[in-house]
Amino acid sequence: MARKKISLIGGGQIGGVLAQLCALRELGDVVLFDIVEGLPQGKMLDIAEVGPVDRYDVDLKGTNSYEDIKGSDVVIVTAGLPRKPGMSRDDLIEVNSKIMTSVAEGIKTYAPNSIVIVISNPLDAMVTLCQKITGFPYSRVIGQAGVLDSARFATFIAWELGVSVKDVTAMTLGGHGDDMVPLVRYASVNGIPVMELLEQKYGAEKAKEVMEAMVKRTRGAGGEVVALLKTGSAFYSPASSAISMAESILKDQKRVLPTCCYLQGEFGVSGYYVGVPAVLGEKGVEKIIQFKLDAEEQAMMDKSVAAVKGLVDSMK
Ligand code: APR
Repeated sequence: MARKKISLIGGGQIGGVLAQLCALRELGDVVLFDIVEGLPQGKMLDIAEVGPVDRYDVDLKGTNSYEDIKGSDVVIVTAGLPRKPGMSRDDLIEVNSKIMTSVAEGIKTYAPNSIVIVISNPLDAMVTLCQKITGFPYSRVIGQAGVLDSARFATFIAWELGVSVKDVTAMTLGGHGDDMVPLVRYASVNGIPVMELLEQKYGAEKAKEVMEAMVKRTRGAGGEVVALLKTGSAFYSPASSAISMAESILKDQKRVLPTCCYLQGEFGVSGYYVGVPAVLGEKGVEKIIQFKLDAEEQAMMDKSVAAVKGLVDSMK
């Protein structure tokens, strides 16, 4: 099997962690691109020099030239400014649209067969723009948001119930904003509904309140990290989340991961990128998994989609 190639556009906080994770998991050869001279070269030299310690053997290259991304199987985009305390993701749209425009042109020219995973915010709008400029099929331009939002939800549930994070399954749908939809009904501990366990612990009424608080914390979890860091946004968690998507694609694992996908009628949405569960394999999005939402979930989804539409339409 030929060695895979992963290119990372943006060599900042997330880009650096992405490069290290690619190396640690030996996903393939890695190129880190940034417009700042020396930054990607320095980070990749730093990571390469502990290959003998961590025992990975992949080629690691830092660059300021798009030519180096030629032949990429997967490209992950983090180019763009992160939030500052008090900002919403949507406040980044103007500046990050300009950056995304140049990045997408670079990918279109030099990595025309790649599958692109966007992390830059505001996520739903940046994925939309990236697909539009590259002109790639929708199945090959996707966004990372749901894996992380779901992981945050699962983490809070595990803490609340005092069980291992490994045994909690939880998922969020919708846009990557304050109206995202954590799916309470499907959250489980090894298949046992979380609400049932909360009711055992607290009784029905208090259980509802506890869950509502976890849903609220999930929706604001990115902002909680921003407020603590003061100089940037979360970077370990978005990097790991995107790597799980990249790995499923590179190894054709067909994992079912919440992914920002272009919808054409699924969940009642047409013509917009929104977070839904998808099968990720060597072709990118190989299937969008649909299931019935109840009236309350559908109403939350509609509200989240309306927010995405407002943002995306503001770019037109
Ligand atoms: N092309 C390539 N890289 C660029 C460009 C560009 N036109 N403009 C800026 N960059 C680079 C910056 O030089 C910087 O190294 O993007 C990198 C962004 O890194 P950070 O500022 O550290 O931001 P990070 O925390 O990695 O987040 C990146 O992901 O989650 C989102 O909201 C977050 O939009 C932000 C993005």
